[in-house]
Amino acid sequence: MKIHLIAGARPNFMKIAPLWHSMKECDALRPVIVHTGQHYSSSMSDSIFADLRLPAPDFYLGVGGGSHGEQTGRIMIAYDKICQDDNPDLVLVVGDVNSTLAAAFVGKKLGKPIIHLEAGLRSFDMRMPEEVNRVAVDAISDLLLTPSSDADENLMRAGIDRERIVRVGNIMIDSFEMLRERIEKTNTFQKVGLASKEYAVLTLHRPSNVDDPVVLERVVDAILKLSTLLPICFPVHPRTSIALKKIGATLQLKDAGVRLIDPLGYVEFMSLISSARYVITDSGGIQEETTYIGVPCLTLRESTERPITVSQGTNKLVSLDNVFMAASDIAKKENQTKKSDIDLWDGNAASRVVSAILNNYVS
Ligand code: UD1
Repeated sequence: MKIHLIAGARPNFMKIAPLWHSMKECDALRPVIVHTGQHYSSSMSDSIFADLRLPAPDFYLGVGGGSHGEQTGRIMIAYDKICQDDNPDLVLVVGDVNSTLAAAFVGKKLGKPIIHLEAGLRSFDMRMPEEVNRVAVDAISDLLLTPSSDADENLMRAGIDRERIVRVGNIMIDSFEMLRERIEKTNTFQKVGLASKEYAVLTLHRPSNVDDPVVLERVVDAILKLSTLLPICFPVHPRTSIALKKIGATLQLKDAGVRLIDPLGYVEFMSLISSARYVITDSGGIQEETTYIGVPCLTLRESTERPITVSQGTNKLVSLDNVFMAASDIAKKENQTKKSDIDLWDGNAASRVVSAILNNYVS
């Protein structure tokens, strides 16, 4: 069976890599990588592909950025042609980005079975573009592969048939385990002139934190205050870089000693957060990765679609008003590492995905 693995944005690559490697070992399945080009910079795409030992994509759609409508529309037009010409048996989409939505819609309209990996996550905040994507993709998917029990419950509450839901665990942990040895040998903190456990890592890219200049000014003030606790290393996402330049804050942060660096590859980034005292982020995936490696995480958001990272992990939701207090508490204590033990976050999710596909589509 030929399976299109759809990937477009950085967080998708860590999810398709373990699948591609597992499917390559399985005689019954032929994985084909379709990269939409939603993320196109070398630091956001090529270097991550290389780290994850992925080959060049079989199809590259080169759609680039733009408004949500433009970007989603361009992916749909480009993928429609590929999907018709290459005629896969199955279309597998991951996560919640615009590429996930666009490819799922195209595949479904062409009569292809749609498999959604990381189905069922919900922030219940429809102002987030990703929440719209999650709800829409789950509604049209044929096989829904979930990371945790809260996701199963969300899907059943939405009326999705139990038979179509398979809990496979967290696929991102597979990528971490696949590269653990290299991650442990890569001391990224040294390259940025920091000492192990004596710094914090910051990442920000959510529209709710960076798009409105007034909010971003407040975020910058909070970072300046946080930098008095421990040095901060801040790999800057392209969206955030543009927004910071617009309000003229880049120099101000640098002057305060904040290490502003380009986005890192997967191995270097996982190494950086593994040796951090704590992480401040608004990313979805990093909430899970810090939970798995046991590093305290403060999530600068009102909601999370990954509540298990709060109830069973190291994650805490914070606002601009209380982030300093929460960070001060962590900065005071030297060893805050707390290992989590969440069911099926074990590095074997990809093989469970392969089994679910074989059970459902290969007789
Ligand atoms: C997207 C996803 C988000 C995910 C994030 C991870 C959606 C709705 N959002 O948001 O869920 O957490 O990726 O990074 O799909 N840009 C570059 N180079 C790149 C990629 C982007 O310069 O390689 C620029 C774009 O041109 C644009 C901005 O960064 O100006 C934002 O990119 P976009 O793909 O629209 O959304 P993200 O904020 O990255």
